Amino acid sequence: MRVYDIIKKKRDGFELSTEEICFIVNGATSGSIPDYQLTAFLMAVYFKGMSSRETLDFTLAIASSGDKVTAKINGIKADKHSTGGVGDKTSLIIAPTVASLGLKVLKMSGRGLGHTGGTVDKLESIKGFNVSLDYSEFLRLGETNGVVIIGQTKNLAPADKVFYSLRDVTATVDSIPLISASIMGKKLTADDDVIVLDVKTGEGAFMKTLESAKELAKTMVEIGKGAGKKISAVITDMNEPLGYAVGNALEVKEVINVLKGEKVSDLLEVSLELGAEMLYLSGYGDKNYCKSQFLKAIENGSAYSKFKEFVSAQGGSLQDFENGNYLAEYSLEVKAQQSGYISGLNAELIGRCALSLGAGREKVSDKIDYKAGVVLTKKVGDSALKGETLATLYTSNKELFKNAETLFNSSVTISLKKVRKASCIIDVI
Ligand code: URA
Repeated sequence: MRVYDIIKKKRDGFELSTEEICFIVNGATSGSIPDYQLTAFLMAVYFKGMSSRETLDFTLAIASSGDKVTAKINGIKADKHSTGGVGDKTSLIIAPTVASLGLKVLKMSGRGLGHTGGTVDKLESIKGFNVSLDYSEFLRLGETNGVVIIGQTKNLAPADKVFYSLRDVTATVDSIPLISASIMGKKLTADDDVIVLDVKTGEGAFMKTLESAKELAKTMVEIGKGAGKKISAVITDMNEPLGYAVGNALEVKEVINVLKGEKVSDLLEVSLELGAEMLYLSGYGDKNYCKSQFLKAIENGSAYSKFKEFVSAQGGSLQDFENGNYLAEYSLEVKAQQSGYISGLNAELIGRCALSLGAGREKVSDKIDYKAGVVLTKKVGDSALKGETLATLYTSNKELFKNAETLFNSSVTISLKKVRKASCIIDVI
């Protein structure tokens, strides 16, 4: 078999055999296929798509490219996974909250992808936090604390690690088969009983239209059900960033605030829906009861206690967040250029703005400025007077402000008419 022939076959729109797909995935895992051929393959899939059979084969090959978590854990193992958003820090709210209610969350998360952030990068903004635990420690903490989050290890779905970092820098992220195989390939290695997917749609999502988001959700739910999982997908709005903070340490601070009881409405709405769905699929009770228990865990402090326990078990210290030392050296306030109501805050442009301030990577080898990012002052629906602050930009390199400010300004739409903010929860599949 020749990689060249497989790329050409896909480029010309033909269906690949199971053997051909496995050949590519095995070559990505072993390193025998060079990056330039892998990216050509990814681009061919991006343009020509994959049939359901090819997507399933690709997912299973990724899931089998390394070890699987096989050890038995007492209790119900539940996980959530997002298709990627801007300001999406829900995992860090949900995981400790549902763990405080008895679920076991042994989570493998990703890094930032394209204009979206990644949970692992956010966790690494916490001083000392170790996302590279070995397997036995991962299991031990999952069993004893009920929540543990690591990065993609070399051994779990290693093929996805290779594809993910190449897609991030070659504009091949927003493809239904590639996203499905990436997410479900990872999820199937973890042997969870329950999986809840957060499929984002809108300006800041990889799936810009509701139709494509639904297709992605159905593809992944089908794969999960076929593998015997209790699984559902919640379709959520990603037109404006979730919450106010975009950027790693800034988002961790917002998580702490929410877990301490601050009501950041859209962020709490999405976290509540996903967390309650995890509890519901785990047999905890009906959906309303699950919602009430989720909120109670935040109100009575048990979710925040669990978060602190989780951070410290993985070597992290929250001291910088407690004493205000999580902001980058330089800041710039961006002002409204006219008076009116905020009718749009394009999440993709704000994600790119945060990236341009240093909060993410443009190339695989880029180093992240963990304190960089954007903190919104206004959200869609709010009124603003000309000259009022819409957001504050943070970075350690003030030369980056010029481009970032232009990007931020281009993300904002102000209307003279009052704007009503819709619910972030669009559908459950
Ligand atoms: N999250 C993933 O894990 N993979 C994707 O392709 C997109 C989002």
